[in-house]
Amino acid sequence: MTEIRTPRLLLRRWHDDDLVPMADINADPRVMRWIDDGSVRDLDHTAEAIERWEEEWDEEGFGLFAVELLASGELAGFTGLYVPEFLPEVGPAVAISWRLGSQFWGQGYASEAAQATLEFALQDRGLDRVISISRAGDAASENVIRKLGMVLERETVHPVYGFPLRVHTIDLTEYQA
Ligand SMILES: CC(C)(COP(=O)(O)OP(=O)(O)OC[C@H]1O[C@@H](n2cnc3c(N)ncnc32)[C@H](O)[C@@H]1OP(=O)(O)O)[C@@H](O)C(=O)NCCC(=O)NCCS
Repeated sequence: MTEIRTPRLLLRRWHDDDLVPMADINADPRVMRWIDDGSVRDLDHTAEAIERWEEEWDEEGFGLFAVELLASGELAGFTGLYVPEFLPEVGPAVAISWRLGSQFWGQGYASEAAQATLEFALQDRGLDRVISISRAGDAASENVIRKLGMVLERETVHPVYGFPLRVHTIDLTEYQA
């Protein structure tokens, strides 16, 4: 079973109990503001998404980790790796992603989880490069991207929604947490 402990977080595979707290996160317009077309997601959509994320773990050997606070056991959201099939021009590539409930922002949890995810990508999966794809204007994500040491590789547009996207990259062979 794949689990990572950081000073404050447990990164792990998904449990049935995660559905309701993750659906609450996906139902918050502040959280969804910069994701796809910005629409919120309901419980059924979240259930399907968790199922898909678990399948990705089984098929790829990596995926989106459920991020749990060690102190309280609460689900804070997710951080992890995915294959960005929606943007073929960057492939083949593995991308990092994050989404936390708004009550968990501003405490350094996203950066802590993202650093652990990059170490997992390098050490456990042997990946030498990870990218991130963010929507232009998503300042909170850009802040995490900058702190991870990722560099801008290209600017493009979302193939479905047409808004500007920014693709950053990091060479993990030179990565120092
Ligand atoms: C993107 C997102 C994950 C960033 O979360 P975040 O909490 O802002 O990110 P961080 O973990 O870097 O924490 C930020 C702040 O916490 C503060 N902080 C408090 N305690 C801290 C600690 N112990 N360690 C580090 N930072 C700490 C810092 O001030 C830090 O800001 P700074 O780097 O400017 O100094 C969050 O905004 C989110 O979930 N957004 C919605 C989903 C989304 O848009 N995903 C991206 C789609 S591509």
